Amino acid sequence: MSALSVTEAVTDFNILPFEAPLGAELIGLDLAREIDAPDFSRIHQAHLNHYLLVFRDQRITPAQQIEFSRRFGALQIHVLHQFQLPGHPEILIISNIKENGEPIGLGDAGHFWHSDLSYVDVPSLGSMLHAQELPAEGGDTLFANMHLAWDTLDAHLKDKIIGLKAEHSYLAQYAELQRRNPWRPNLTAEQIAKVKPVLQPVVRTHPETGRKALFVSEHFTTRIDGLPEDESRDLLNQLFTHSVKPEHVYRHRWQPHDLIFWDNRSLMHLAAGCPEDQRRKLYRTTIEGDVPF
Ligand code: SIN
Repeated sequence: MSALSVTEAVTDFNILPFEAPLGAELIGLDLAREIDAPDFSRIHQAHLNHYLLVFRDQRITPAQQIEFSRRFGALQIHVLHQFQLPGHPEILIISNIKENGEPIGLGDAGHFWHSDLSYVDVPSLGSMLHAQELPAEGGDTLFANMHLAWDTLDAHLKDKIIGLKAEHSYLAQYAELQRRNPWRPNLTAEQIAKVKPVLQPVVRTHPETGRKALFVSEHFTTRIDGLPEDESRDLLNQLFTHSVKPEHVYRHRWQPHDLIFWDNRSLMHLAAGCPEDQRRKLYRTTIEGDVPF
């Protein structure tokens, strides 16, 4: 019998759900190894059941992260090409590190609650984030369960918003982020043309589980279509506040080499930030989903 090789299929792992409104740790999986079809199917089902999967201590290369991400669908390339990992445009560098005075990554990604790429016609199924360098203090990522947000919404608000559409725009908070972070690049006309505002359902149905979820965010949702501006603003503020109540939220405290994989159809997320003098670097891949309905 031949010795175990690094490409041998993984056969056994455990799923440990968090005592939280979402999330589970997958124990005993090494993503540097080949994942066979039965294991892949368990991972896929765990993702649908728990919305956020945490794989600890993953020593994988960017190419391996891309390969694993592609098992779930086509990858989306972020409009800020300035922060792609050289040689791997599928990876967006999330980092506050500056080299020779220039940022190497998007340092303020996720500073408002959002679901990735909700501002394009076909938003993201899910995103993977792999820790490269972590701060000693802070740097957590928070996740809100948008199915729970829908389930626990007052009946009169449910009646009011079902069937409504809202506009999502990449530019909604861009000027504010540039004001806070002067290094954030000006967008070219070509980049702006790629992120024209889109209408999305305020309540979406998960295409695989059939569960309903709220689908509006403080980062990208600008207005509810067909409502007067003040009414739209008031309603959106109520939905934003309700979505991120503590009982809907899990806080991920990063450990070295964590890889996490979340479902953007079920969750919103927020980067809590860290002190400016502490280095933080993560690699993100974003998997394309379906047109929301
Ligand atoms: C993101 O929004 O994808 C980044 C989240 C983080 O940096 O914690």
